[in-house]
Amino acid sequence: MTVILIGYMGSGKSAIGKKIAKKSKINLVDLDDYIEENEGMSITEIFEKKGEVYFRKKEREYLKQLLETETNKIVSLGGGTPCYGDNMEMILKATPYVFYLKASVDTLYKRLKKRKDQRPLIKNIDNADLSEFIRKHLFERNFYYMQSHHIVNVDGKSRKKIAKK
Ligand code: S3P
Repeated sequence: MTVILIGYMGSGKSAIGKKIAKKSKINLVDLDDYIEENEGMSITEIFEKKGEVYFRKKEREYLKQLLETETNKIVSLGGGTPCYGDNMEMILKATPYVFYLKASVDTLYKRLKKRKDQRPLIKNIDNADLSEFIRKHLFERNFYYMQSHHIVNVDGKSRKKIAKK
């Protein structure tokens, strides 16, 4: 069984994944970490040295690798993973347990304004413009995210409650 967590940057995919993994004793694989380990570079370095096109290509390759393994696992994806090529189709076909951690622009802004550094797509955006950037970007990405089998609203909820759900 594979459980997949998707959602915008800052929606809590990695943190919730860790909680579920601990409770269920099922292995967690964080796609960003998996990419970093295999490429021997941080996500930021990959963007800076190789560019986003290279990152998206590798992201797809490693996603495919992970989805092809049959072991029980929880997989937390990168915010953009479902939104490129036919990745979302591949994700939905791999398992009936695709969960979208749905957060409002407000929640995302509050979290991301403090945590931009490790995120190449937003690190150079001024906080004054960040909310508007998230609003537009999320609007585009929701087209993919909303195809998930399960949608979990995370606004105002504790990690414990979200993981339980
Ligand atoms: C990205 C999100 C990041 C990471 C990369 C690109 C995106 O993951 O994969 O910086 O396109 O939204 P998180 O969602 O874990 O921040």
